[in-house]
Amino acid sequence: MVTSRNHSLDSFDGNSVCSRNSCGNSNESQHQKHKNVSRHPHQRDSSTTNSSSSYPSGTLPDWAYHSRKCDDGRTRHTVENAPYMLPNDLTESDRLDAQHYLVRFLLKGNHNVDLDPEANLKILDVATGTGVWALEMAHEFPKADIYGVDISAIFPTEIKPSNCHFQLCNILDGLPFPDNYFDFIYQRLLVYALTPEQRKQVYVELQRVLKPEGYLQLVESDGIVYNAGPEVEMINNLSLETSLRHGVDPRDVQNMKAGLKGTGYTGVNSFHVALPVGNWGGKVGALSLQNMHGLATIWLKGEVGKLDQEACDARLAIVDREIEQYKPYYKVWLVVGQKPSVAAAQLREARKAAVSLANSSAQTSYPSPETTAPPRRSMAAA
Ligand SMILES: C[S@@+](CC[C@H](N)C(=O)[O-])C[C@H]1O[C@@H](n2cnc3c(N)ncnc32)[C@H](O)[C@@H]1O
Repeated sequence: MVTSRNHSLDSFDGNSVCSRNSCGNSNESQHQKHKNVSRHPHQRDSSTTNSSSSYPSGTLPDWAYHSRKCDDGRTRHTVENAPYMLPNDLTESDRLDAQHYLVRFLLKGNHNVDLDPEANLKILDVATGTGVWALEMAHEFPKADIYGVDISAIFPTEIKPSNCHFQLCNILDGLPFPDNYFDFIYQRLLVYALTPEQRKQVYVELQRVLKPEGYLQLVESDGIVYNAGPEVEMINNLSLETSLRHGVDPRDVQNMKAGLKGTGYTGVNSFHVALPVGNWGGKVGALSLQNMHGLATIWLKGEVGKLDQEACDARLAIVDREIEQYKPYYKVWLVVGQKPSVAAAQLREARKAAVSLANSSAQTSYPSPETTAPPRRSMAAA
């Protein structure tokens, strides 16, 4: 089974990434080759759900096969209702893979709850990206089944362990899995993918597919480079402006702990750690600087920055000089919460019902002046 590791959750930092461009042209992408994405056996029937993944076999929607080519030369997804603004091309896949190793190093492993390697666990990786985390988990837990979903088919479709399953899915349309299905759910670096309201909806949806007492682990960065010099601060502002254009406020991830508690998760713990950016932070800092360059390039050349390659390179050269002086870092948050047991959930519902009953009887005894007509006074009493 799954148990929470004994954390002194306090603070931790990594980097994150993601955003979306309003660049127009819809082009067929390199993902055409992923057309034969199969339907998951547990996918709900399209008559009972509006999940975007619930399409009859062979009739996936257009967005499954297309990306749009943007003015900065990068490709991005075409899903109308998903605010995610980062590219989905090979350059981005390389960056995501390198970022995975950074975060894994920072958090001392791929998961921070204890998982029984002998159990037939069902594990979900929400917005799996290249699937690198899911693939490693499939090796580490050969008796488990690992499921990865993403809006872009940048995950492997053919060469993968048999206990690793990927499928296209826009999580904002609901997950194509039954209630109470997963023992453990992992969601990493969706900072640029969700508006604050959508983030709350996702917490609810994840709770639906999590088994009672199952664990959810969230890993995020707010994308802000702390201790920034003037040039890095300019890039911070650029990333914020770009995200806000899409309704995404990256600072919202600072509220994950409260968000999970508000959705009814129990035992919610959180901490964040610092991820150095620059050679001053040793090998990790150097790798993290490369990752930061990748992100900064997206902001500098994107829909707000609009720089060409030459101008972008010039700005990054200034960044590099500045970084050794200011010693900046990202913050990476880790939050773990548990779906309540059936008994605890029943108790919670009973408490809610009792409170609502108490409120309604209070209203009956003490009618509110706004909703109740004033008592008629008889002439005699007047
Ligand atoms: C920064 S990447 C992180 C990928 C992976 N979790 C990791 O840590 O390596 C964010 C991922 O979220 C995916 N994504 C964004 N919006 C999504 C949505 N509405 N539904 C499913 N996936 C989404 C993107 O396609 C991208 O692969």
